[in-house]
Amino acid sequence: MTDPSATFLLFGATGDLAHRMIFPSLYNLLSDGLLPDDFMIVASGRTEMDDEAFRADIDKALQKFVGADRYDAEVAARLKAMIGYQPVEAGKPEQFRKLAERLDGRAERGLSVYLSTPPSLFAPTAQGLAEAGLITPTTRIAMEKPIGKDLASSKEVNDGIGALFDESQIFRVDHYLGKETVQNLLALRFGNVMFEPLWNATAIDHVQITVGETVGLEGRVSYYDGVGALRDMVQNHVLQILSIIAMEPPARMDPTAVRDEKVKVLRSLRPMTAETVKTNSVRGQYSPGAVGGEIVTGYSDELGQPSDTETFVALKAHIDNWRWQGVPFYLRTGKRMPARQSEIQIQFKPVRHSIFGRAGGLEPNTLIIRLQPEEYIRLLIMSKRPGLEREVHLEEVTLDVSLTAAFAGQRRRIAYERLILDLLAGDQTLFVRRDEVEAQWTWIDSIIDGWKEAGVKPSPYASGNWGPSSAIALIERDGASWHD
Ligand code: BG6
Repeated sequence: MTDPSATFLLFGATGDLAHRMIFPSLYNLLSDGLLPDDFMIVASGRTEMDDEAFRADIDKALQKFVGADRYDAEVAARLKAMIGYQPVEAGKPEQFRKLAERLDGRAERGLSVYLSTPPSLFAPTAQGLAEAGLITPTTRIAMEKPIGKDLASSKEVNDGIGALFDESQIFRVDHYLGKETVQNLLALRFGNVMFEPLWNATAIDHVQITVGETVGLEGRVSYYDGVGALRDMVQNHVLQILSIIAMEPPARMDPTAVRDEKVKVLRSLRPMTAETVKTNSVRGQYSPGAVGGEIVTGYSDELGQPSDTETFVALKAHIDNWRWQGVPFYLRTGKRMPARQSEIQIQFKPVRHSIFGRAGGLEPNTLIIRLQPEEYIRLLIMSKRPGLEREVHLEEVTLDVSLTAAFAGQRRRIAYERLILDLLAGDQTLFVRRDEVEAQWTWIDSIIDGWKEAGVKPSPYASGNWGPSSAIALIERDGASWHD
């Protein structure tokens, strides 16, 4: 790692992500004294605007998204003083020249570029930077998803950026990796002695990963339709969680060791076929219903036309390696679910032999790791029900660790705070390497191709449900059930 970048250059600075996440994160970092001295933020977008107009706009966003309890006009003023706005449009070399003038030799002291634009602009933007002399060995570039819509297009994006930057300078963002609870999976698995010996096919029956959202399309028609839940959520966030749950222990917490182990898992995912998608996948699309007591419309009504895009997907995945042979990973994610709820369930196998005979309510152990909105770890274990009966009666009790309570004094960070800080410092551990993205797409493509070949269309589910009933059948066929 080198000195932190002295300049942060944001493309797509007038967009939603910049307002909701990136500037509030920079505000929090500044407020905690975590930004380098003499730091400069150059915001850029296509809109013509001067510094003052942009700063005023950001101030409004900070008041809205930082939270009333944290917003402090003095910190906001310091942040605004660091921000300059420069209109730049990809393909206009003159504007990139002006941008370079504005940076006035600062790129030499480390420049972190953040692309929060549509992916079609990634390569042209990088090209503009190169022509303006803004790419040096200390320039880093961060990219938001989606990186392509399949393996072929992701390779194009990666080639476009890779022609101008070394992989060690490229930071692919998956904001789930910035979440404290996702990083905590590493601490849970590798910072405790009791889980690792059991973390394999000998002791684990199956794993469930659920990422449920209550929101619908949210005015993201142009992006979401034609993309769908598989590409929007499984290709990145869900597979990143899966890779951390399933990976071998890395030798140390460094970018190469961690990502080497993750990519091995991703490459071990068994590809689906037109035959297996029929039993191992479910596509759904929300229809009218009620979420949290509110009546909501269906996807096609929001869209204004019928569509074949899935807003829900459930999958039964297999990881073909030694550790996970015969252990299914059930994955599901969807919009307009009954609750915003992301969690992992590790379902252990029954004890080998019950000394309690047929009596007694013996159940296999379950570990539940809730990622959001609450943060907790629950282990369901067997305990003797108190009483003088001659036959032992067992009952499930919960070992319950609330991380929210255990760390009550600590502010929960926006995922982007961690990621921006790591980008500035040049630490790639929590960013996705090219081979990971490509392994993710390889598996996702096998499902999409399978769906096409087998003609699998989304089945409707009433908003406020955990997907179509076939999603329940997907797991119950194997004698298990979703943890709702
Ligand atoms: C984004 C998806 O990557 O993640 C959105 O594009 C989704 O569709 C969002 O709503 C979920 O993120 P979080 O942090 O709210 O769970």
